Amino acid sequence: MTKVELRGTVEAGARWKPRVVAFTCNWCSYSGADMAGTARIGYAPNVRLVRMLCSGRLDPIFILKAFEEGADGVLVSGCHPGDCHYVQGNLYTRRRLEVFANLMEFVGIDPRRLSFAWVSASEGVKWSRVVDQVVSQVAEAGPVGSWAVLHAPSTLAPQPRQPAQPPRQPPSEEEVRQTTLNLRELARRLLENGEVSRIIGYAHSAGGMSAAPAFIDTPEDAERLAWSANSPGNLTAYLSGPNRARRPGKTAVVVKTCDARSLGGLLRENQLPRDEVVAIGVSCSGQWSGGRLAAKCYACESDISPLADWSVGAGGIADGPHPGTARAVAPDPRDAEIAALASLPAGERLAFWTGEFDRCIRCYACRSACPMCYCETCIADKTQPQWIPAASSGPGNFAWNITRAMHLAGRCADCDECARACPSNIRLDLVNHSISRSIERSFGSRVEADPAAVAPLTTYRPGDPDRFL
Ligand code: FES
Repeated sequence: MTKVELRGTVEAGARWKPRVVAFTCNWCSYSGADMAGTARIGYAPNVRLVRMLCSGRLDPIFILKAFEEGADGVLVSGCHPGDCHYVQGNLYTRRRLEVFANLMEFVGIDPRRLSFAWVSASEGVKWSRVVDQVVSQVAEAGPVGSWAVLHAPSTLAPQPRQPAQPPRQPPSEEEVRQTTLNLRELARRLLENGEVSRIIGYAHSAGGMSAAPAFIDTPEDAERLAWSANSPGNLTAYLSGPNRARRPGKTAVVVKTCDARSLGGLLRENQLPRDEVVAIGVSCSGQWSGGRLAAKCYACESDISPLADWSVGAGGIADGPHPGTARAVAPDPRDAEIAALASLPAGERLAFWTGEFDRCIRCYACRSACPMCYCETCIADKTQPQWIPAASSGPGNFAWNITRAMHLAGRCADCDECARACPSNIRLDLVNHSISRSIERSFGSRVEADPAAVAPLTTYRPGDPDRFL
């Protein structure tokens, strides 16, 4: 395949001309462009067409790649809703692109660089109008040309991580001790009865109170289990994917309320059978570290997930999720940080995020910590084609962090373990949470623990937001 050269749009002494990459579906928009040609309808010559069978094939990484290769703008075009030759491909794409466009705006990409249009095979005139409009708005936005233009140094101070007063107190030492004893008691029982062959839980790490993952296979070993006011790590990451540590038979896993949402996601995505996993919900007052409550815990309404097969707390052990008791919640502090970032001019937002992603050392700790990153071969590890540059540098880091966020869109359990695992303290929590909020705003749905709940980006409604021209 011939590689289309996009770089170097500003030739020495020449006037800059915008370059736009248009991803078109074969059956409608590409034919519409063809129709414009055969009917000799003129349009701006700045567009390079990439033909796909259906707009449903469009992965946002294609758009990122086009920008990385030097495109100044991208147009995505497909059949009108109801006309897709694969029936619903364009309706799924409409949802996906709505989320992607919101994310691009959040990280500071000028919205004039990204356009969408419905163009049918008979709409040569519309194709020509759309291309002219897109090229002129990209011309107004100016050249991207190279990553160096996108990449301005960040002048922003880091955002405060915990601005608000926590809505509740950490558990007392006695509560933690009783919870640990009850957890050990349940683990012993389950292993002795042969109900499970392994329990994945927490053990005190050698250094003290923080908890490390523990894999318990015998009743005697149950003594190693522990609970603390800070039990970090989403242990459902050990149920599937490269970290898989399940044993034949049933494996029990200790889950906090947020972790259970990813267990629900793994079940929904058929990554493990429900009858091979036992969820032990431990009464959680939130993750406390140095007297600070994790941001994700402020608005968490339930101390035990409804997905729990067993509930364990200081008060005892119960079969199934224990009846919920009302508890104090407060606005999620991540929302305030996202609103503060969103209020900045686009250039400053871009500077902030390029500054964040610049610190990425591509250790993939975020991927390892995430239960929903279970692909056998991650797109970041693929070399043919290499969608994401492997080097830890501007373009590769931006593509990796945005692509991972999009792969988790509508699937992320909001557990923030990726941000906690990140040795460079990149605000991945804000990226993921902003996507969750954008899905909530656009489609009125959020990621649920219930495995039967439909994931927001695997469905559509005829009245979904439509930013297509
Ligand atoms: Fe044109 Fe699906 S075939 S959008």
